[in-house]
Amino acid sequence: MRRLNAELEARVRERTAQLEVANQELDTFAYSVSHDLKAPLRGIDGYSRLLLEDYVQHLDDEGRLFVENIRRGTQRMGVLIDDLLAYSRMERRVLHRNALDPRRMIEGIVTGCADELCMRGATVRVSLPAALQVQADPEGLAQVLRNLMDNALKFGRAGVPLQIDIGGCAGSDTTMLWVRDNGIGFDPQFHECIFEIFQRLQRAEDYPGTGIGLAIARKAMQRMGGRIWAESTPGQGATFFLELPA
Ligand SMILES: Nc1ncnc2c1ncn2[C@@H]1O[C@H](COP(=O)(O)OP(=O)(O)OP(=O)(O)O)[C@@H](O)[C@H]1O
Ligand SMILES: [Mg+2]
Repeated sequence: MRRLNAELEARVRERTAQLEVANQELDTFAYSVSHDLKAPLRGIDGYSRLLLEDYVQHLDDEGRLFVENIRRGTQRMGVLIDDLLAYSRMERRVLHRNALDPRRMIEGIVTGCADELCMRGATVRVSLPAALQVQADPEGLAQVLRNLMDNALKFGRAGVPLQIDIGGCAGSDTTMLWVRDNGIGFDPQFHECIFEIFQRLQRAEDYPGTGIGLAIARKAMQRMGGRIWAESTPGQGATFFLELPA
């Protein structure tokens, strides 16, 4: 029995080491792909701009439209590469676990959105129990909360005053935080896939974005030893839950 256990443990150790190497390789791959893609893209961007600036008289309307489309494509690809870089940074950054009360952080983030909230006629209610504590990397948690606020602001329903509720509660050894909005919501069947890189349920023409915010949020939560998940009904808003060690 003891020999069997030892064998099993050795196999688990070996498998974990293999997985760590594979993960490391994937990180390096994503990082260098993003970096190396930027150089040729800068070339296409620069030359297509020169074409429009210096050779525009040689182009007819259709030719101009083609070059403008090339430029739009390169700009979009530039944004996607930047997003991939941001994601791989979250994967590689050294995270620190500090005990912190999220209240100040949340208030800071809400204040940071004040202009946009005012413009949208939105109200935010923050309701947190006193002395709530989470174990989290301050920068990582702030980024998660900012991404959730960003989405709550973006996916509002036209003609409906936006209402965002931020709450929290303490469990036995974990703390929950949530961000709830009364926006367009989404079909519950998509509650998992929205956390994948570049997965979006809306067209970029209707709601700008590339679909990286929630992927970064999930990566950050995993790395902090926590979880993120969402609940929603189409047309009735969405709630995003965060669970972190207390
Ligand atoms: N609060 C929300 N209400 C309704 N749908 C949401 C909400 N948050 C996210 N979604 C859906 O999940 C998709 C993925 O969200 P995510 O934040 O990753 O990307 P994005 O906001 O579209 O783009 P980016 O974050 O890169 O600007 C969104 O495109 C949207 O379809
Ligand atoms: Mg987003």
